[in-house]
Formats: sequence, C-alpha cells, structure tokens
Amino acid sequence: MILSAPQIIQKKRDEIPLSAEEIRSFVMGSIKGDIPDYQTSAFLMATFFSGMSLDETTTLTKAMVESGERLDLSHIKGPKVDKHSTGGVGDKVSLIIAPLAAACGLKVPMMAGRGLGHTGGTIDKLESIPGYRALLEKEEFIRIVNDVGCAIISQSEKVAPADRKFYALRDVTATIECVPLITSSILSKKIAEGAEGLVMDIKVGSGAFMKRKTEAVTLAKTLRAVAKKAGFELRSTISNMDQPLGYAVGNALEVYECIEIMKGEDLNPYGLASLDLKELTIHLCAQMLEIGKVVKNVAEGRKLAIAKLKDGTTWKKFKELVAAQGGDITTLEEPWRYMKADRVIEIKAKKRGYVTEMHSESIGRLLTVLGGGRNKVGEQLDHSTGFFFHRKLGSMVKPEDTLVTIFANSKTDLAQVEEELRNCIKISTAKKTAPKLIVEANVK
Ligand code: URA
Repeated sequence: MILSAPQIIQKKRDEIPLSAEEIRSFVMGSIKGDIPDYQTSAFLMATFFSGMSLDETTTLTKAMVESGERLDLSHIKGPKVDKHSTGGVGDKVSLIIAPLAAACGLKVPMMAGRGLGHTGGTIDKLESIPGYRALLEKEEFIRIVNDVGCAIISQSEKVAPADRKFYALRDVTATIECVPLITSSILSKKIAEGAEGLVMDIKVGSGAFMKRKTEAVTLAKTLRAVAKKAGFELRSTISNMDQPLGYAVGNALEVYECIEIMKGEDLNPYGLASLDLKELTIHLCAQMLEIGKVVKNVAEGRKLAIAKLKDGTTWKKFKELVAAQGGDITTLEEPWRYMKADRVIEIKAKKRGYVTEMHSESIGRLLTVLGGGRNKVGEQLDHSTGFFFHRKLGSMVKPEDTLVTIFANSKTDLAQVEEELRNCIKISTAKKTAPKLIVEANVK
C-alpha cells in the first residue's frame, strides 16, 4: 500500500526507514505538484532531523535523477570531469577551474548552482557579467563544451527538477546542513549531467555547512558510496572555511578576483595576493586531471595546472566560455572600471593586534543584507555589492589599517553592516596560527 504524503512525512519524522517506493512516490508527487510545497518542506525537515540510511539516500538520489532527463554527453570527445563544492563564503574556485581544466585537456560540463543559505553560487557570480546566459539548450551546451572545452550552466527545468525544487525550498527552510539531502542534491545533478568523474571540495569550518571535520568525512564517504553505485568516480578534498576564500565576497567582486588570477597577476588592485584561492584551485584541478587520466599522477597535474594558469591559456579559455554563453567580454578586460556600487567605504582597524577570527557564516549572511544574497526563493540580486577583505586570519593590523572595503547600494544601512562586520572580525594581541587550507587532500 502506498502511503499518503502526510503518512510518509510522519514515518520519516518517527525515524522509520522509508521504502524505495515511498521515496519515489514522494519525489514524483512533489515535482508534479500533487504534493504542495508545505508538505515537501515538512518532508525535508523530517529528513533533516531523522536522517536517512545509505540505501534511502541512494534511492532518493536515483529518484531525483529520474525526475527529469539525463544528458547524453557521448558526443563530447575526451574525458569529462566536473568539480563541485559543498558551498562556502568567497568560494569562487569553479570560475577558474573550469577554464583551467579545459586548458589542460579535460572536458568540463559544469552544472552549477545559485547561492544557498549564507553561501554564494557560481551562477549568481557569472550572471554579474552583462549578457551571460546560464540556461542553455542541451545541444548548445554540448557544442560549447566540445568547442571551448568547458561550459558553466544552471540546471534547466528538465535536469533533476526535484533537486531544483528541493534546493530552493531548503535554502529558505533551514534544511541545508543534512548529509542525505546534500548528497542527493549534488549527485542527482551530476549523474543527470553525464559527467564521468567528479572532484568534490567539501568545506569545513565557520562558513561551511559542515562545521566539524567528522561531519565532512561522513559526507565524503556517503558521496563516494552513492557515486560508486551510480558508476562514476568521485574523489573528495576537505578544505578549510573558517575564513572567506581569497579576499572578495560578493558576486561581481568575486569574478574580478578570479580575473586577476587568470590574467596571471600576482597582486590584485589592493596589492594583495589571493594565494589560498590559487592553491586550492591548483590542488583540485590536479585531482581532476588525474581522474580524467590526462596526467599520470597528481604531482604532474599540479605542474600542468600551474603552467596553464601562468601562460595565459586559462584566461583565453575563460573569455571564450563567457563569449560563447553570451557574456560581454569587453567588461572583463578592466573589470574594476565596471563596478557599479553606489557607495564604497573602508572599515579601518581600531587597535593593534592579529586577526584571530573571521566568522564566515555571518559574513555570508551580511552579504544578503547588502542585497548580494537571497532571503526568498527567486529574489533578484544586486550583483555589485560585497566586501573586499584586506586581511586574512593571522595577519597583523595596526590602527587605521583598512580591514574591509564595503561595496553597497544606497538602500543599505551601512552603520548596521559596519557594526556587524566588526563583530565578525576579532583582533587579539596574541597571535593565532592560520588554519591549514587543505584539511584532507583525498578522503579515503
Ligand atoms: N551544493 C549542492 O548542489 N547541493 C547542496 O545541498 C549543497 C551544496
């Protein structure tokens, strides 16, 4: 007997494992509109609290794949490997890694997401480039991946529509930080997208959904077990998210930071080097190259990635990718000239000391106050707003040093933002060593 939606929710709430049929019928009912969003949200909350077994998670993933169409990428020549992050603050790696891996010889059919909770989304960042089209028909997506080597698109209505729906509801119902829901969300997209291999960047720390390493390891193992059942190779790195990655947080600003790196600039316009962003990108790219058998090992992959970042081919590929997806590449050459924020103000340090805390989740939430993140499904973003940090954890500061530049529009209460931002950044007299960027290079 198939249970009704309220009975399925109740069963999950009471921690009784769901059958494959119950999971499938709930997913299909939800995307067909037979199950209203309030019941889907209740199901997500019940799963958040009760969890799911590996079998339930695998069934949920498959049901989410089957909720839509699967792309056939057999017309794309070469190894097809993607990268995905569980989400962070200032995490802009995807913007560089797709053209970088393509410049190294991989095919990267990347289906990326929008902002989720306090974390930013690759698609929102790319849409700060005028004209950029994130929604492409399947044929165009395949043509661009073949011609350029990479394309970055958002999920169409047709691919894993159940994830589209659940993702949007989880974003606004406090049901994000949940291993089975994250696993099924990521893998349903990636299986439907047709990639042959996937490198996961699992974030851990104050700005991540996984606050502790043990949770990140559980997620890595669950992802790998479900991916194995689906027949593709998945590898996970755990990386630190106790501070924003790089210096920029905000859609357009993050694109600009990536452009500096792809152009081979050692320093950004504020005279700072985004070493963590560069290192993580190279590390993850090397993993992708090894999975795709472009190189024999990760050390060789690192060498190739470093060379392709330096010699200008990644920058050329990025411009080709943006042009192919309709973006105006004239704005990319001198991006800072196109900054449209109404107000740019600098927050100065009030005392001498070392930066010992940069509470990344709160920083991510403050971006929403500036209009750069969402509080409601489908909300329009102000891409020009954000923060440019001038210090990282462990940096020394003295009074009057600039800590952060805020890019805001005229509607924002800047006094409130400044006060909250100061609460996010702790300056202490005792030096604390900065956390290790790569917490676990390849989770076994
Ligand atoms: N990325 C996704 O695609 N889904 C999640 O749930 C979290 C990160």
